[in-house]
Amino acid sequence: MAEPFRLLFVCLGNICRSPAAEGVMRALVESEGLADRVTIRSAGTGGWHAGKLPDQRMRSAAQNRGYNLSSRARQVSENDLREHHLVLVMDQQNLRDVRSYDYESQFASKIRLFCEFCTDHQEREVPDPYYGGEQGFEDVLNLLEDGCRGVLCHIRSSLA
Ligand code: 4NP
Repeated sequence: MAEPFRLLFVCLGNICRSPAAEGVMRALVESEGLADRVTIRSAGTGGWHAGKLPDQRMRSAAQNRGYNLSSRARQVSENDLREHHLVLVMDQQNLRDVRSYDYESQFASKIRLFCEFCTDHQEREVPDPYYGGEQGFEDVLNLLEDGCRGVLCHIRSSLA
């Protein structure tokens, strides 16, 4: 069988947005019977939370929608850019930070903003929910569920 499509989600801390994206995307890929054709990981541009489970508020909000978030935070590396086929970042700052690992601009076309794949939302970025209230986590999940459907369409076309 062809090698799997390797997808990476990146945010700042890797404890809210990108692990939630990983969980939403994994559930979608599994429900479509594509679990052995797509690998999904996440990372943060910062390393302060390395080794931690996702933020409890994000885990609870995700659990209420049936997503179990169990990844451990880690910092993104240059090697991640080499190894993954698509690197989806949550906001413009993430984009600048991830691009800073791409010293020779050889990976530019695979580093993209997650919201490019949303169809039901007009937002250009997935907002950082860390310092806000509970609704912020719901808003993040709504965006992620929308965009992940678009990401799945994109992956399907490249697996075909
Ligand atoms: P994330 O959210 O980038 O979606 O994981 C944040 C998590 C932690 C911090 C900021 C954003 N922090 O400042 O510690």
